Amino acid sequence: MIGFFDSGFGGLSILKEVLGIGAKEKSSLASYDFMYLGDTARAPYGNHSPEKIYTYTTQALDYLFQHGCELVVLACFTASANALRKIQQEWLPTHYPDKKVLGILIPTAEEAIKETKNGRVGVLGTRATVQSGALSAELLKRRPGLQIFSAAAPLLVPLIEEGWTKKVETKKILRYYLQPLKSKKIDTLILACTHYPLVIKNIQLIMGRSTKVFHPGIAEKESLLDYLQRHPEIESKLTRSGKRVFLTTDKTENFNRLGSQFLGEKIEARLVSL
Ligand code: DGL
Repeated sequence: MIGFFDSGFGGLSILKEVLGIGAKEKSSLASYDFMYLGDTARAPYGNHSPEKIYTYTTQALDYLFQHGCELVVLACFTASANALRKIQQEWLPTHYPDKKVLGILIPTAEEAIKETKNGRVGVLGTRATVQSGALSAELLKRRPGLQIFSAAAPLLVPLIEEGWTKKVETKKILRYYLQPLKSKKIDTLILACTHYPLVIKNIQLIMGRSTKVFHPGIAEKESLLDYLQRHPEIESKLTRSGKRVFLTTDKTENFNRLGSQFLGEKIEARLVSL
């Protein structure tokens, strides 16, 4: 099984693209079995310390690996930015040397590098993601000299979770966060949070045609396809019966309601404790 982890149900916006739900073309990844775990009991992660995010993420990985996952994608930007490196370098080799953990930062960084023409890239994310500097580091590793402008947008996650995606108040707040990035003449904007694709149209409208705003889920899909092609030793261990398991650490009703909006398909989640 392929595990997907997020602090809550936001990662379902990434899984949606990976599975090609609502897309014109079917995704070849849809035939694999997926187990999605959202740690809603402790979300949002965006204002937690890196230490807490690391501890929570490893607990979730323990659960997923002990329940049949061979490979786990951290679909959460906050977890990828604050915990992935330490997990890959220290935790995984001692705890699960035969398993793999991938993140969402590198796929989005690579996509942004492909897109930018003027070398000026914007990053919009949670406080913990922006403060970690991890995305900037991945971008600069790939293109030294790139100019990166980051902004934390802490009000967006609660607004989107309240379903305020089309409200005039949300549009005003978006403008408030985006104006400083726009004034830097960026030509590519990374939506470094699972929730922001739900307001991608408004973000694109505010930024204008000269800025490319791409869905991070599409970058993740391409990266996962490529990874599985390059790693037959992992791919051959994955089961392919199109099975979906949704797990949450708090109220299933909330997860089902909001999660279904993020995934674009009805969800029946099961409650688990980590
Ligand atoms: N999933 C988180 C992310 O992508 C957003 C929600 C949270 O702060 O937990 O950064």
